[in-house]
Amino acid sequence: MKKILAISYSQSGQLDEILDNFLKPFSSFDIDRVKVKPVNDFPFPWTSPVFFDAMPETVLEEPRELAPYELAHDRYDLVILGYQPWYLSPSQPAAALLQDPKFRNVLKDTPVATVIGARNMWLKSQESIVREVESAGGFLVANVPLIDRVQNHVSAFTILHWMLTGQKTKKWGFLPVPGVSHEDIVTADKYAEPLAAALPTANFKGVQKQILDKGGINVFASIMLVESRGKMLFKVWANLIKKKSTTPEIRAKWVNRFKWYLVTALFVISPPILIIYTLLRPIMFMKIRKNKQHYLYLGIEN
Ligand SMILES: Cc1cc2nc3c(=O)[nH]c(=O)nc-3n(C[C@H](O)[C@H](O)[C@H](O)COP(=O)(O)O)c2cc1C
Repeated sequence: MKKILAISYSQSGQLDEILDNFLKPFSSFDIDRVKVKPVNDFPFPWTSPVFFDAMPETVLEEPRELAPYELAHDRYDLVILGYQPWYLSPSQPAAALLQDPKFRNVLKDTPVATVIGARNMWLKSQESIVREVESAGGFLVANVPLIDRVQNHVSAFTILHWMLTGQKTKKWGFLPVPGVSHEDIVTADKYAEPLAAALPTANFKGVQKQILDKGGINVFASIMLVESRGKMLFKVWANLIKKKSTTPEIRAKWVNRFKWYLVTALFVISPPILIIYTLLRPIMFMKIRKNKQHYLYLGIEN
């Protein structure tokens, strides 16, 4: 029987719910479902200082160590990696997993599918994931990114309500529910069908196209722009904070500066830039289309 490793970390349980549904078409296979967590786990709900303090090590991919976990087998026919981006990078538990020799060992010569539960910015983190999977000798055959479909600034606001209260509810009773929608979570199995159908023959060619043909997965031009600039700037801030932080008090000051920079960049600087970009979009049509395809098939041979 074909063996599958489905491995993930989730704070709120959102990604677990996504994976529970995604795994339904694989019920006739041998599934090893593993949930990892750091030795010293991140708090949920977060406090504001801890939330922003997680940025430097996340962006520089210097994660907290994972607690020991068991894998039922040495080899698998498919690895399904569920992860979430933090600060345009793999979350620290996902990064720790990809650096762990035990996990890297099962990736060798093995097809890998990623399932993402994000707000709406997963492109740069997926670049890191693909790089790590490939350096461990694995190869990507599918990627299913599920996102919050609400407008970017609204979801940035509502996700903070969720992360800082632990409540996936409508802020003030009228703002949208944060995170991946209930409908997208419970229908995640549709994206797994092409993958499950390909598993018996291990011929994954064309699977990502079949997944995308189901509809609902897209890459937005404005997000590509924000992510590429944002990741560069996060790296500058991450290095600066690490360099300046000779004491916890000094670090807290610099993290606070970063927080205000982020709020200003998101709500003050980025809107006019995005308006100009939207006006210029028609002349960049071909380039944008090419970049979208690049991200939708990142690391996947089609
Ligand atoms: C510290 C932190 C940073 C985050 N940064 C991003 C991000 O850069 N892009 C994004 O789409 N979502 C971001 N999110 C949202 C997560 O990707 C994820 O959707 C949310 O935390 C729920 O995941 P869970 O299943 O672990 O509860 C961030 C969340 C946290 C806690």
